[in-house]
Amino acid sequence: MPTAAVPAPVRRLDADHFTELTAIAAELLDIHSSATSPALLADLAPACRRLSRGLHDALRPVDTADGLFVLRGLHIDDTELGPTPGHWSTVGEAGALWDVVLLLVSALMGTPIAWDGQQDGRFVHNIVPSPGHERVQTGASSSVLLTPHTEDAFHPGRAHLLLLCCMRNHDHIATTAASIRLTKLSDNDTAELIRQVAPILPDDAYEVAQQFGGKPTPVPTLFAGEDGLTLRFDPAYTPLGEAPESWRAAYRRLTDELARVSVAVSLEPGDVLVVDNDMAVHGRVPFTARYDGTDRWLKRASVRVPGRRTRPETEAAEHGYGQAALEAWAA
Ligand SMILES: [Fe+2]
Repeated sequence: MPTAAVPAPVRRLDADHFTELTAIAAELLDIHSSATSPALLADLAPACRRLSRGLHDALRPVDTADGLFVLRGLHIDDTELGPTPGHWSTVGEAGALWDVVLLLVSALMGTPIAWDGQQDGRFVHNIVPSPGHERVQTGASSSVLLTPHTEDAFHPGRAHLLLLCCMRNHDHIATTAASIRLTKLSDNDTAELIRQVAPILPDDAYEVAQQFGGKPTPVPTLFAGEDGLTLRFDPAYTPLGEAPESWRAAYRRLTDELARVSVAVSLEPGDVLVVDNDMAVHGRVPFTARYDGTDRWLKRASVRVPGRRTRPETEAAEHGYGQAALEAWAA
C-alpha cells in the first residue's frame, strides 16, 4: 500500500509522568510477581486512581480526526530487555514491567480486554516475527504486507482502542494507519457500504473461532455515528467475491481512499501507538525477519471504552464465532 510520509500526532509524556508511571508499575509487579496475574489486573483500577491528574490528561483517548496518536516519553533500555523471543508463547515474563505500564495506560483509557482463543488469554500480546509464519495475515508475519485492518474485526466485542508499545525496532519497520475521517467517499458509496452485505471471518490468530459451526453474519463496513463515520474493515478475511459488483466497487474505492490517506509510523522503543479501532485501520509494511534475538518486538493491548456509541446496534445480535472477550476487572 502506498504510504504518505505524514507524521502521526505525538503526545509527549514528561519525565515526571514517566517516573510516576513506571514506579507504580514496578510496585504492582513486585507485589504480584507476574504481569499475567489476575490479582494484578484487579489492582489496575485502584492504581490508576493514585495517578496524577496530569497523567490522566496525557492519557486521554484519541481526540483528532487522525484516529491515532503516538505517546512518546517512555524509555526502554535495549540492553536490559533481553533478546526478542522467536514466538509469543516463549515470551514468559520478558519485558514484564512494560506489560504493566501498558496495562496502566490501557486502564486509564478504558477497560483492558483479552481473548481466551488468542495468546493464551494474555491481556498484553507480544508481536514478534515467527519462523514459518512469514506470509500469514497475522502479527507473526514479516515478508508480506500486513493488510490494513480493524483489529478483531470479526467480533462485536472487539477493542475500541488498540495500543502498540514498541520494545525494539532496529530496522525502522513502519506500522501503517489510515483514518476513515480523512477519506473522501461519495454519498452513494457510503450508503452502499453501510448495508450489511459481507461477513468478516475470524483471522488466523483464532483457530478455535475458525472451527465455529454457525452461519457467518453479514456486517456493515461503515457506520454513520453521532460524531462521523466509523468503519469495520478486514479485506483479507472478507469473502469479497460473493458480494454484488456495485458493493465491491464501493469497497474498492474505500480501499483506495484508505491507501491515499495512510500514514507510515516508524515506532521507536518506548513509543506507544494508540489507534482508535473504530476510526482507523492499521497494518505493517513487509520486512525481512532477522531471527537472531534482535527482531522488531511490539507489545499490544486492547481496550473497550464503556458507553461508546460508535457502532451499529445490530452488532449486539452477532454470535462472534463462539469467542468472548475477557475484561480485566472480571478476569
Ligand atoms: Fe492488527
